[in-house]
Amino acid sequence: MVQNSAKQVTVALGERSYDIHIAAGLLSRAGELIKPILKQQRVFIVTDENVAKTHLETLQNGLVQENIESFVEILPPGEATKCYSILESTIDALMAQGADRNDVVLAFGGGVIGDLTGLVAGLLKRGMRFVQVPTTLLSQVDSSVGGKTAINSKMGKNLIGLFNQPEMVIADQDVLQTLPVRELCAGLAEVIKYGLIDDPDFFEFIEQNAEKLNAADPDTLAEAVRVSCEAKARIVSEDETERGKRALLNLGHTFAHALERANGFGPALLHGEAVGTGMAMAYRYSKAIDLCSGQDVTRAEKAIAALGLETDVRNLAGGPYEANALLEHMMHDKKTEQGRLTLILAKGIGQSYIEKNVDADNLLVFLNSETAD
Ligand code: GLY
Repeated sequence: MVQNSAKQVTVALGERSYDIHIAAGLLSRAGELIKPILKQQRVFIVTDENVAKTHLETLQNGLVQENIESFVEILPPGEATKCYSILESTIDALMAQGADRNDVVLAFGGGVIGDLTGLVAGLLKRGMRFVQVPTTLLSQVDSSVGGKTAINSKMGKNLIGLFNQPEMVIADQDVLQTLPVRELCAGLAEVIKYGLIDDPDFFEFIEQNAEKLNAADPDTLAEAVRVSCEAKARIVSEDETERGKRALLNLGHTFAHALERANGFGPALLHGEAVGTGMAMAYRYSKAIDLCSGQDVTRAEKAIAALGLETDVRNLAGGPYEANALLEHMMHDKKTEQGRLTLILAKGIGQSYIEKNVDADNLLVFLNSETAD
């Protein structure tokens, strides 16, 4: 078991404030953490086949210790699970098991499970309660915090969803020790994002600790999770529904979502892998329009690559990618308003900002240069 000390971060949202618990061994203590918020001594767990195999028994034992009954719905792993048909079947399954509005559903898995389950919780009987129990690095530092829930549609990623805050986040650090390397690297993309957005000191910490992070060193990872959750909690508390500053959390994501959509949200490209390349693209585009220096781009690219992530679109899994298709997908982004595309760009390391007037012609020239042989 990891020996790091427990950390707690609060997402301050008035009456809907909640804590993110970060420590080793939390799955086996889940019952103790959850019990105080339960009105009935039972929970509904939504998870996927992989997480069920590895961690479900530990979680259920932790619940049994506190006499909490659990009903489990196990879904297929992968981004394709974030779809209408699985949203419907999951709601039906929970209702068939008798779920009501006072019940708590546990989103037990990575970002896919968290996003889908949060939406299920928001819709079922006009809203049941839910707790995020993220089991990947990416979901611990990003998707489980802040209340964004969604499924994908044919038109693009995360287009059907709700803002729906959980009542608690339980981020067990032990689960990170069993993550496949690809999942770890994908999560590190969302970690370095916080440094690139507005925290040059954290960026430097990542530069200096890339090897330890890649080796899943428990204390270094727990520190990275804490700083990331604090950054996310701060931004979400200031702008819960993304009227302004929360959009900064999408650094690299408009490029990334276009890349993911171009390959049909298939398993060849994980979300975090696309975000790694997307952030490098955001820095290169910023340089192309004279916002930041070549040194900033090189430093960002080097740090992203040191975390085991690809920075060059031409070498990215799931390709080849085509400039016109990428631009078309980017135009369907949620941040596009009246045909005007918004991008998160950077004036330097830790100096990201929201650019609401992106010139689509310029962007296409850039995308052509990114994808040409
Ligand atoms: N993942 C971006 C956000 O939560 O706003």
